[in-house]
Amino acid sequence: MSELRFDGKVAIVTGAGGGLGKAYAALLAARGAKVLVNDLGGNFQGQGQDMSYAEAATREIRDAGGIAESNGDSVATSAGANAIVQDALKRWGRVDILVNNAGIVSASGTLGTLTDEEWEKDMAVSASGTFYLCRAVWEGMMERDFGRIVNISSGSWFGMGSAVPYPAAKGAVWAMTRSLAAATNALGKNVKINAIMPIAGSRMTQLMGPEIHGLMERDFPARAVAPVVAMLAHESAPCNGEMFTAGGGGYTRVFAGVTQGYRATDKDWTPETALAQFDKVMDTNGFHIPEGSMDEAALYTSDVPWEAFKPFIK
Ligand code: NAI
Repeated sequence: MSELRFDGKVAIVTGAGGGLGKAYAALLAARGAKVLVNDLGGNFQGQGQDMSYAEAATREIRDAGGIAESNGDSVATSAGANAIVQDALKRWGRVDILVNNAGIVSASGTLGTLTDEEWEKDMAVSASGTFYLCRAVWEGMMERDFGRIVNISSGSWFGMGSAVPYPAAKGAVWAMTRSLAAATNALGKNVKINAIMPIAGSRMTQLMGPEIHGLMERDFPARAVAPVVAMLAHESAPCNGEMFTAGGGGYTRVFAGVTQGYRATDKDWTPETALAQFDKVMDTNGFHIPEGSMDEAALYTSDVPWEAFKPFIK
């Protein structure tokens, strides 16, 4: 197989001053991309601001022979996100690749202890940040009929118990990925949006305590996630709207499916019937992975012309 190269491509990697983002930016640059290294430079809880974080990562990439520029705007406001994209456009005229990596974990408590501010901060960086950045690059990618967006979700989405705003925001990232991919599929555009749930030792995993953090850094280095991001950012990316876990040198598909379930036609059915059918509904044998919301609805009946909803996508 020939090497996957990014010569001439322009990439934005948010939150690329350190950790995973720096590893993504470094790999894309090492393979020829011009990379805008964005990072606000606060701590992992989202406090503070320090431009030198993005600048140091940029220097490292340049010292290794790559092309990179720094940007210190925040992804968490539409003005900041627009400024990041404008910065790349001013320097290089277009954006081909966007990696929405910036993230924080502002809180670690259980629900009763969480504050409004903690909810709003996590949602602002991971969910709103991804939305603002995708929106800011969208028109350009659609016009040029080329784009690759890699969104960074999190395995916390599977259920974590504490720090609820963080998995909630990362779940929004997956839902956004599915919806944007459904739009580009419907429009027949060569713009692909996928997501990953990384696993890597970083300053964020210090939350897990020194012992686990040390093991994470040893067995799950950030660089071991980067090949999956690069594959999804490449023009040969083989999928749209997919999600993968990635870490330690491997990756797996994550999917949302529906079971065969119980699909009767009696509109006046009862809670007792629902309970009686529970085991059948939970049985994952013969499950189906819907391509989109209409596909899922069509599993109930094809009498309704679900396809008719597609023209609403513009
Ligand atoms: P990190 O804390 O080193 O990286 C996050 C980066 O985002 C930091 O450099 C930070 O300054 C930057 N950032 C924060 N708010 C920003 C804003 N408003 N604007 C621009 N930049 C901002 O942590 P790590 O582990 O490298 O995380 C990278 C991404 O991967 C995050 O989205 C995180 O949620 C996600 N993730 C990481 C996992 C892991 O195992 N390390 C697991 C699941 C998800």
